[in-house]
Amino acid sequence: MTIKEVQEKFGIVGRSKAIKDLVDITMQVAQSDISVLIYGESGVGKEVFAKAVHGCGKRADKKLVSVNCGAIPEGILESELFGHEKGSFTGAVDSRKGYFEIADGGTLFLDEIGEMPLTTQVKLLRVLETKEFMRIGSETVTKVDVRIIAASNKDLQHEVDAKRFRNDLYFRLKAVSLNIPPLRERKEDVVALIFHFLQLYSKSNNIPEPEITPEALNLLTEYNWPGNIRELKNAIETSIALNRTGVLSVESFSGLLEQNYKTQEFRNLPIHVDRSPDSVDREMIYRALIDLKKDLIDLKDLAYENNSFGNSGNDVSPKEVIPLDEMEKKAIINALNFTKWNKRRASQLLKISERTLHRKIKEYEIN
Ligand SMILES: Nc1ncnc2c1ncn2[C@@H]1O[C@H](COP(=O)(O)OP(=O)(O)OP(=O)(O)O)[C@@H](O)[C@H]1O
Ligand SMILES: [Mg+2]
Repeated sequence: MTIKEVQEKFGIVGRSKAIKDLVDITMQVAQSDISVLIYGESGVGKEVFAKAVHGCGKRADKKLVSVNCGAIPEGILESELFGHEKGSFTGAVDSRKGYFEIADGGTLFLDEIGEMPLTTQVKLLRVLETKEFMRIGSETVTKVDVRIIAASNKDLQHEVDAKRFRNDLYFRLKAVSLNIPPLRERKEDVVALIFHFLQLYSKSNNIPEPEITPEALNLLTEYNWPGNIRELKNAIETSIALNRTGVLSVESFSGLLEQNYKTQEFRNLPIHVDRSPDSVDREMIYRALIDLKKDLIDLKDLAYENNSFGNSGNDVSPKEVIPLDEMEKKAIINALNFTKWNKRRASQLLKISERTLHRKIKEYEIN
């Protein structure tokens, strides 16, 4: 296959040298069983490349099993990965295969590997070296033939220095690294991606493809896309959904970009312009707080209107009692939408760990 064919097959849009080189390496390493480490900020396309590495290789017709190491509670990650025998711990009512056995013959994609606890890292390294392991509570060895692709949005060298990631495992994984640069460093891809998503969403919504003004194209090209391709995809999708004129202009994107400093709305906000990553985070939190405050005021008004607070309780209508899980789900959805699904930032705003956020997203089936 040519680079172009691989890009088409796996939906990898982009004409930058960086993307073409990455596709080239993908094709080269796909044929072997060597471990691949994919590194890049949130939303750059790590999963897209993981699928391409698997799909271009000889295991393509076998399973690609994805495990998000950050989403599985620490206590059960090992039994999820390696399986367990009946009765090996409280709650192990059945024996169960782990992901390594499920992926046997195929590929295991360990997403957010930087979140893997050190004790599990030891076990993973051993499996990589010996291709065998024991289910928890078992005394017999299980042999597997699994190719590993790992991804991280954390700089693993930094994690190694901070003693949160094992050097030997890092060394083993990084034999082949695919470093996907953030979108702001490959601006030549932005326009191609915009037209790709314009076409995609118009088709799937059965509407004629809207035009886009040169000014809007310019705005989107100049913007620095902290949420990378995921943010761009969401912005295009929402702008199409809200569009009534058939033309997307600068205004169509007002309020849709995470740092909408170029649009009117931002200019109205009394926030000083300091663009360090910290200040961006601060600003997001600030804006979330303003939203939260507005919600609180609304809630208070509602409560007073209905005279439902400060009462002995008998005249509260059941309608006014909001189940806590509903409120929690709403808060999570708001935080995710606000951060354009940047789960790290969303979890910071919600003041819960990223792991808890993942668990709750699954629990509430938010997607
Ligand atoms: N080069 C690309 N061309 C077209 N679409 C892309 C490309 N890269 C990513 N996407 C799309 O952008 C979205 C985010 O990509 P993906 O899930 O692979 O990112 P990620 O790096 O795994 O993000 P995270 O760190 O948040 O898990 C997906 O919907 C994906 O289809
Ligand atoms: Mg991902």
